[in-house]
Amino acid sequence: MKPLLSVVALLGLSTAAVGQTSTQLVVHADRGRDTISRHIYGQFAEHLGRLVYDGVWSRSGPEGPWQMRTDVVEALKRIKVPNIRWPGGCFADTYHWRDGVGPSDQRPSIVNTNWGGVTEDNGVGTHEFLALTKALGAEPFVVGNVGSGTVQEMHDWWEYLNHPGRSPMADLRRKNGQQEPFNVRWWGIGNEAWGCGGNMRPEYYADELKRYGTYLPGYGGVRPFRVAVGPSDGDYNWMEVLMREAGRHIEGVDLHHYTLAGPWSAKGPATGFTDAQWFRSMRNALAVDEMITRHSAIMDKYDPRKRVALIVGEWGTWHDPEPGSRPGFLYQQNTMRDALVAAASLDIFNKHADRVRGANIAQMVNVLQAMILTQGRQMVLTPTYHVFEFYTVHHDAVLLPISVSRGGWYAVGVDSIPAVSASASRDRSGVIHVTMSNLDPTATRTVTVDIQGASATNVSGRVLAAERTDAHNTFERPEVVKPARFTDARIANGQLSVTLPARSVVVLELR
Ligand code: AHR
Repeated sequence: MKPLLSVVALLGLSTAAVGQTSTQLVVHADRGRDTISRHIYGQFAEHLGRLVYDGVWSRSGPEGPWQMRTDVVEALKRIKVPNIRWPGGCFADTYHWRDGVGPSDQRPSIVNTNWGGVTEDNGVGTHEFLALTKALGAEPFVVGNVGSGTVQEMHDWWEYLNHPGRSPMADLRRKNGQQEPFNVRWWGIGNEAWGCGGNMRPEYYADELKRYGTYLPGYGGVRPFRVAVGPSDGDYNWMEVLMREAGRHIEGVDLHHYTLAGPWSAKGPATGFTDAQWFRSMRNALAVDEMITRHSAIMDKYDPRKRVALIVGEWGTWHDPEPGSRPGFLYQQNTMRDALVAAASLDIFNKHADRVRGANIAQMVNVLQAMILTQGRQMVLTPTYHVFEFYTVHHDAVLLPISVSRGGWYAVGVDSIPAVSASASRDRSGVIHVTMSNLDPTATRTVTVDIQGASATNVSGRVLAAERTDAHNTFERPEVVKPARFTDARIANGQLSVTLPARSVVVLELR
């Protein structure tokens, strides 16, 4: 059987084909096997900068209670947020949950030592976060404190959330207004234990993980889905030790990979970047494909039946903070470059659907690669938001493998990457969707796709494209980058022909 290669897997092949501008793909509609978990489209909401306070929640006066912003919540509903990871991030390993429950005017203030040293009043805590996930129909993904907490403290939070009967913590929950258990399943056992979560060795963390995990008992029908701190990028030793020592005690491993256009000391601006920085962003986003392949191979050794999910719990672009913003708040603009990074990354996660069964883009509002930016009562949707909206077609759909017959390349100097990235899936009603993006910021690309094993005769679609590489939406001009109807796709005799504008993302429906 011909091996199935994804578009991005071509990275490993010879560069003899560099220079070709057209791409030929095959969508194997007859070989669908794995489901693309909707949880790949998860969000991350840390107590950081203006995400929680002034982003998702606002208050009318300086002393008023924090309330969910309906404009933000309604926009998030449209991208069908499947899960939200909270309260961090690095913040999670400094967070003591009892500070954030009970009457809000009696909650203590805390200093957010990781993010700007700001004082917060704990107005948003457990009950407020779970009201948000309920409003969105999203699964809560709570990260417990291993770095500076205790086993008892984590156990008590778990009991508070989930115990259905009489117990000290369930009684406290009822006193705070919630009769029924919240039934929270997804549970991060610490965050980045190799860094801000305690600077641990993998051997030490694996032992701690088992100790903390032991005291998360099943209550009623709720069993914990224990997510271990996974590696950063290509730290394969972390994965090896973790899976060897603790693989049997977990349900998920949390890999983190950020896309930078340069070293950490010179990440570069979010707008007004150079062509070289665009290229490096694309190349560094695509690098996660090899990381997932190699981490999965290690996981396969200890877990050949793929019981344990790989969750990319933090991913996305990280640029220099917006000039004039507080550096510790990680506020950055979001352009067509971010949209293309999102599309290419999501294609890679989809391709690995057999092992990647969750991911959380960093972060949901006002922080890093955000879906939404707010300013006072105003709100704008970013180009990345529109990509997430396009990709809702893949939620819980069957992945249709894509192989490359001929790849078109985008070269800068001696470096090159595949110009086109794509995903295909079949939804529950049998409709095939193809998402495609042109990572080349300079040229139109033609793509022909053989659809094998399906007979579609009609194609319709939408496109996200813009005049400039750093086109973005502002509070003054909120619709510079927005979806439009796409008319450059044809289908005849089982072959789809598409002309992708430079720097564009397209979603197609085949019937
Ligand atoms: O997303 C910002 C930070 O990046 C998170 O708090 C941390 O986990 C990671 O290093």
